[in-house]
Amino acid sequence: MPQIDLRGKRALVAGVADAGGFGFAIAKALYECGAKVSIASWPPAMGIFETMWKRGKFDDARQLSEGHLAETELMEIEKIYPLDALYDSMEDVPEDVKSNKRYSSRGDFTIQGLSDNWKADFGEGSLDILVHSLANGPEVHLDLIETSRKGYLSALSASSYSLVSMCHKLCPLMNKGGSVLSLSYLAAQQVIHGYGGGMSTAKAALEADTRYLGYQLARRYGVRINAISAGPFASRAANATGVIKDYIEHYREHAPLQEDLTQEEVANFAAFICSPLGSGMTGTTVMVDKGFHTLGMSYG
Ligand SMILES: NC(=O)c1ccc[n+]([C@@H]2O[C@H](COP(=O)([O-])OP(=O)(O)OC[C@H]3O[C@@H](n4cnc5c(N)ncnc54)[C@H](O)[C@@H]3O)[C@@H](O)[C@H]2O)c1
Repeated sequence: MPQIDLRGKRALVAGVADAGGFGFAIAKALYECGAKVSIASWPPAMGIFETMWKRGKFDDARQLSEGHLAETELMEIEKIYPLDALYDSMEDVPEDVKSNKRYSSRGDFTIQGLSDNWKADFGEGSLDILVHSLANGPEVHLDLIETSRKGYLSALSASSYSLVSMCHKLCPLMNKGGSVLSLSYLAAQQVIHGYGGGMSTAKAALEADTRYLGYQLARRYGVRINAISAGPFASRAANATGVIKDYIEHYREHAPLQEDLTQEEVANFAAFICSPLGSGMTGTTVMVDKGFHTLGMSYG
């Protein structure tokens, strides 16, 4: 049986600021498969993450599972980069953000900065796996019809265009055979009440862009890109929407597999699709949601 073996590969996971989301679990799964893993963290949340990491608060979560290919027993992070994915370069950053105390000491925290910092640390041809595990919709609580232009465009900017920009600036540093991954949700394709503020549009854009980038990244760089459409999980970001508990209960009751989706189930699939074992797939969104998306009507 082939195994997922990422020894000798280097990964960057953007969107990790605690241990309770998909980004952390994906970083850990990639590490367990032998990859060297760096993360990019949102400046407002990064300081707390670094402090908690140093104080050992994540040590339980960092514990690797049996049979891993890593050289340590706890997940290690090679580098932590600051990233605010709303900005492509420092010219785009408003003065009040630049002078904010959570940003001012971080250097270049834009997508261009991430690319420059990575290149300075590891050089060209040094990146094998790029994961985009971030989203933000400031008006997610509002129905789409009530969403302001500003809120709608902000959701798309943070949650969708950020992927395009990251591919533009980071894929030139990737090795042929490399892989990009992002995280979507069923609301891209079907109506999910409570997933507002333009976030459904942002996920639809993410999936459409994955198809286009699938072609373009393959032809330009020999790199693949796919998305996982994950079922509901009570991460920090999801808890902030106020509806996640209802979604989880609904899935538990109605999905073909009547059990809660775990971070690890998404992370395991992420490790597979980003590995050479996934070499036949690009431009695709794969549902990892206990089969919920297959339903036309909900039964008990
Ligand atoms: N939790 C779910 O139910 C669920 C379901 C399907 C898809 N997803 C997707 O999974 C991905 C990860 O989310 P999660 O639920 O694991 O939550 P999470 O809180 O672990 O991750 C979201 C991350 O985005 C970061 N972020 C927000 N704005 C940012 C910005 N401007 N620049 C850089 N980083 C920024 C946050 O700091 C956080 O680390 C998101 O794309 C989310 O939409 C989540």
